[in-house]
Amino acid sequence: MGKLAVITDLHVDINHLNEPELLLLRDYLEEQEITHLHLAGDIANQADRAIQTAAFFEQRLPTTFHWGNHEMASLTNEEDFEDYREPRFLNFDTVELSSSKVLLGVNGWYDYRFSDMKDQKEILRLKNLFWYDRMIQREGTDPQISQRICSRLAEVLSRIPTEKKIILATHFVPKEEFIIHHTGKYTRWNHLNAFLGSKEFGETLSGFSNIEQVVFGHTHRRFGEQWIDDVLYHCRPFGYYFEWQLTREFVFENQLVDIFNPTKMRGLLRKHQTAFDNYRAVHLLEEFQRGMTVIEY
Ligand SMILES: [Fe+2]
Ligand SMILES: [Fe+2]
Repeated sequence: MGKLAVITDLHVDINHLNEPELLLLRDYLEEQEITHLHLAGDIANQADRAIQTAAFFEQRLPTTFHWGNHEMASLTNEEDFEDYREPRFLNFDTVELSSSKVLLGVNGWYDYRFSDMKDQKEILRLKNLFWYDRMIQREGTDPQISQRICSRLAEVLSRIPTEKKIILATHFVPKEEFIIHHTGKYTRWNHLNAFLGSKEFGETLSGFSNIEQVVFGHTHRRFGEQWIDDVLYHCRPFGYYFEWQLTREFVFENQLVDIFNPTKMRGLLRKHQTAFDNYRAVHLLEEFQRGMTVIEY
């Protein structure tokens, strides 16, 4: 029997993960007898750094990865988005986990259909105002890109023999069940659900009964796991340090705030840097454990 670990949104650069911290994670994966690690995007802002990170883990255990939106901002060739030439890059491709099970990696994309806003021009305007992905240069509109990806996904899935069970890893949200619909003063955030994932991607998956489990991230909100139509979906992104549970516990234990608002944490943590660093050193392993999905196969 083997054990697959999937980690999304490691963000090694934004989280300032240094070598001892990455060693802590790698040692833990080894101790847990993980037989395959897959990094499902947002490993780093630069593709090179993401590849280096995958290579670091592969010194000890078989490792694959695909992109998230963060790496994509550093890509300049169109073919590098979906067909990057690197042996560990797993996109529209499978690795055999056992004789009856494969891991399929797919970056994915978004089609705006999770937004409450229907006007695509207005959605694009918001993207260019607020969203990190405005820096990503690729061919086609977002709905067109997403549609291309869904067609290729259906093609790849139809080539996998039905007796092979599939664990699919992707970066973006495939099902509406994981989209938060805000109310009150946060209602305007519902517009930005446009960039979280693709409804068509989820619909495409529904046509293939050999898909057993799906792991994704990008939300930076941990939903845990949920069964939808006999498929087990997992969402436990590692996320940014100012969103972590350990950070929440640090600020509450030290009575630094009454309400936890991640967007206001960076400045606050800087003011208590040494105490936070010490707290982080003690609790980081727990955060790694919460921010990964382990699947026995
Ligand atoms: Fe992320
Ligand atoms: Fe992301």
